[in-house]
Amino acid sequence: MIRAVLTGTGSALPARRVSNAELAEQVDTTDEWIVERTGIRFRHIAGEGETTATLAVDACRAALTAASLAPADIDLIVLATATPDQTFPATATKVQAMLGIDDCVAFDVAAVCSGFLYAVQVADSMIRAGAAERALVIGAETFSRILDWEDRTTCVLFGDGAGAIVLEARESVDDVTDPGARGILATKLHADGRHNDLLYVDGGPSTTGTVGKLRMKGREVFRHAVVNLAAVMGESLALAGLTSDDVDWVVPHQANARILDATARKLGLAPGKVVVTVDQHANTSAASVPLALDTAVRDGRIKPGHIVVLEAMGGGFTWGASVIRF
Ligand code: COA
Repeated sequence: MIRAVLTGTGSALPARRVSNAELAEQVDTTDEWIVERTGIRFRHIAGEGETTATLAVDACRAALTAASLAPADIDLIVLATATPDQTFPATATKVQAMLGIDDCVAFDVAAVCSGFLYAVQVADSMIRAGAAERALVIGAETFSRILDWEDRTTCVLFGDGAGAIVLEARESVDDVTDPGARGILATKLHADGRHNDLLYVDGGPSTTGTVGKLRMKGREVFRHAVVNLAAVMGESLALAGLTSDDVDWVVPHQANARILDATARKLGLAPGKVVVTVDQHANTSAASVPLALDTAVRDGRIKPGHIVVLEAMGGGFTWGASVIRF
């Protein structure tokens, strides 16, 4: 059978890295509070000339090199973001032009922090349907530009960055327990729009005519996140015909170290199987999963044949998980 096989990963971060101590010079907070409540130590903040598109392009170039492909080989770009360069056109088309790709399908997906999971499901479905052969799937954000820097309950939590993967249509063994069954084995997505007021941006083209700033009721989001993420990981594994015992690595959305620990405990997963980068990158929304994935691929933790579960939850709420054999 044809599956979407992951053949390359890449990521990019803004040049400027900001520690908690540096943040505490402008915001009424402390390194101790941030580390204890979130596990965050650093975040990268985009400077002049760095945008969602430029970060995405750098991540794509690294992913293409890892996959031994040229930009012209790509026929689909799906870019997940809540911080596009412009309201329209889609940032994906800007990335396409910057990569020098003359013609392909290119569009953005908006599902906030779970946007990358939504983008993976869309690209995987198009590849299996024969509508695309080689896709760039990207999560890229510049949340620093929609933060209220006067609100210490949110501005310390987020950072900027981008991650990208290459998915290619490849012949793959049907039986998921066979090591030859490479590629995306299953994805499960959810949305529940009743929770708009817990995590949102207080502006938009059709309401205020402004971009708006991020608002969040952190405590409520935390509670929903642990329950939803453990459940959807179980659902995606069941869809794939696997159990948590089969999992080599979980690559979670990097929002808060306490959410990562609590979710792993609920699933009975050893903390050593969870990739954690929230300490270095903070919450980069749609970029967080592909950024963490690229980190663990490049440092050699994730190896060919490994079963990897990606998971995320974000504004909406939206949430989802994907099971992949590398
Ligand atoms: N520095 C210092 N103190 C801070 C602070 C900061 N940056 N932010 C909040 N506080 C204070 C609050 O004012 C409050 O003080 P009070 O008790 O005197 O009123 C106290 O810390 C506790 O605040 P609370 O919001 O109840 O803390 P918490 O333990 O719930 O932790 C979060 C806050 C945001 C870290 C936590 O709720 C969280 O991570 N939620 C999930 C957020 C998330 O992951 N969102 C993204 C999903 S995509």
